[in-house]
Amino acid sequence: MIRLLPLLNRINRVGLIVLFTGFLMSGNQAQAQTPEAEKNFQVCKACHNIDGPKLIGPNLAGVTERRTTEWLIKFIRNSQEVIQSGDPIAVQLFEEYNRIPMPPNPLSDEQIMDLLAYIKNGGKVAAEFAQAAPTDEQVAQKQALIDEMQAKHLENEARLIELERDANRNFGTTFIITLIILIVVLFDLLVTKVIKARFVHSILILVSVFIIGEILYKEATMLGRQQYYQPEQPVWFSHRIHAEQNKIDCLYCHSSVEKGKSAGIPSTQLCMNCHNVVRSGKITGTVEIAKVIESWETGKPIEWIRIHNLPDHVYFNHAQHVQVAKLDCAECHGAVEKMDEVMQVHDLSMGWCLECHRKTEVQFTSNSFYETYEKLHEQLKSGQIKKVTADMVGGDNCMKCHY
Ligand code: HEC
Ligand code: HEC
Ligand code: HEC
Ligand code: HEC
Ligand code: HEC
Ligand code: HEC
Repeated sequence: MIRLLPLLNRINRVGLIVLFTGFLMSGNQAQAQTPEAEKNFQVCKACHNIDGPKLIGPNLAGVTERRTTEWLIKFIRNSQEVIQSGDPIAVQLFEEYNRIPMPPNPLSDEQIMDLLAYIKNGGKVAAEFAQAAPTDEQVAQKQALIDEMQAKHLENEARLIELERDANRNFGTTFIITLIILIVVLFDLLVTKVIKARFVHSILILVSVFIIGEILYKEATMLGRQQYYQPEQPVWFSHRIHAEQNKIDCLYCHSSVEKGKSAGIPSTQLCMNCHNVVRSGKITGTVEIAKVIESWETGKPIEWIRIHNLPDHVYFNHAQHVQVAKLDCAECHGAVEKMDEVMQVHDLSMGWCLECHRKTEVQFTSNSFYETYEKLHEQLKSGQIKKVTADMVGGDNCMKCHY
């Protein structure tokens, strides 16, 4: 027993050295729950919750206890391969989840272990990466406030849209009535001569010409814009069913919105991740999903009708707004997740862009992107200006929006 101790000691020391060098060599990779894991989990979020209601796939809380790491790495990288190899757990899961295939994830072992640590930690990055976490109560309070504000905002927006739609409809009627009055008055002036006082004709003609001119001007500036445009799409694809009911993240389908100029419309292949298995819907039965399957089998893409469309001379970049400015999709697109058919709710006019640029503050001091704006930094420091809005950093510059 006594002789064993030094030996154990030595083993311990060797073990420590191995561990230590391993740690040194691994650099960042082996650190658990890094922000990279949070980023990688974005993809999973479309189908998995860690905590909370079950989505398309199983709840991932406790998954690291119910499965071995080795199994998880294989399954997450390519679940179909594991299922096809006849692995009993995988096969049973697959059956249990209506044979919905989980898409493969080209991640390294380290990245998957990192993801698993992140899942084990309840979907939080490790303490050294996180800012001081607010208490649950604070989070709940803030969320309640945000929900309330959003609900109010949406309510107002819906009311405004209704009002403006009515106004547009009234425009048409006013135009026709005024035109008829003008014709009648002219006819009376030249032919029937029922009204004797000439000034009545003059006033009526002046007023109706003014109204008609005004309406024509408004219509002309609306030309090419398509606010409230809501075309019927070739497949009845409902954002309400996918984004709201099934909680699929916008980024799962519009995956280039954070990196690129445009948001992108998903290919049929992506739909087939789920519709390979989900072959009928509660509302349209098999009719609409059959069109998706047909597009898949024939290789002919679904011809979605484009709704939001700026003129060619305007440059607009999603990443700038979603990634840099951290704007919510709803600020520009309204509550898409409530729509069965997408409608354009803003006019996308130059005035609309500029109005937001003038009122929206940018994260000026904390963003190294803006270090070059020395003059603004000085004015901010001396109190000459209180905040920096998007127009001050180029959002008012013709060349930034026009080619
Ligand atoms: C398109 C939906 C979808 C996406 C995206 C997805 N999964 Fe899955 N996942 C499933 C389904 C469905 C199952 C159930 C097994 C099956 O049907 O293949 C599953 C099963 C699992 C399991 C096994 C759970 C258990 O109880 O054993 C793990 C672990 C898992 N997924 C992790 C992930 C991770 C990590 C990601 C992201 C990198 C991810 N999934 C992305 C749909 C998805
Ligand atoms: C399951 C995939 C999927 C998800 C999730 C999804 N979308 Fe879409 N989205 C589509 C498809 C397909 C279209 C094209 C058909 C249409 O207009 O309905 C589209 C169209 C749009 C359009 C109109 C594009 C145009 O032509 O101008 C907007 C805006 C949009 N989505 C925003 C969102 C937002 C915001 C979310 C999250 C709340 C979201 N989408 C979630 C698949 C998806
Ligand atoms: C992550 C999984 C997933 C993806 C991706 C997905 N769907 Fe779905 N889809 C569903 C689910 C779940 C339902 C709901 C079935 C039901 O009604 O119970 C559904 C329903 C539907 C329906 C029928 C709606 C009804 O109730 O009648 C259509 C049509 C449809 N999807 C089209 C699409 C198209 C087109 C795409 C690709 C742009 C797509 N889906 C992508 C999961 C998905
Ligand atoms: C600052 C306003 C703004 C924000 C925020 C915004 N969009 Fe857009 N979106 C637009 C404009 C403007 C267009 C038309 C672009 C064009 O015609 O070049 C557009 C077009 C689209 C389209 C049509 C096709 C395409 O690839 O451009 C989709 C889909 C879309 N947006 C989805 C989203 C999603 C999802 C989000 C949130 C992650 C989002 N948008 C956030 C303003 C915005
Ligand atoms: C809901 C608010 C909002 C709307 C609407 C909006 N923007 Fe912006 N935009 C911003 C913010 C905030 C920034 C500053 C982002 C940053 O931090 O750089 C910005 C930045 C920009 C920039 C970059 C300016 C620079 O310094 O390089 C361009 C270009 C731009 N927007 C174009 C447009 C166009 C074109 C439209 C209309 C079709 C539009 N934006 C609508 C909020 C908006
Ligand atoms: C924030 C982005 C933005 C900036 C900055 C901007 N524009 Fe525009 N501009 C637009 C958009 C969007 C349209 C398309 C409007 C529409 O369809 O009604 C447009 C349209 C126009 C048109 C076509 C006429 C019209 O009203 O449709 C002219 C001319 C124009 N802009 C000139 C300018 C000039 C000159 C400047 C600099 C003083 C400028 N723009 C700055 C976004 C911008």
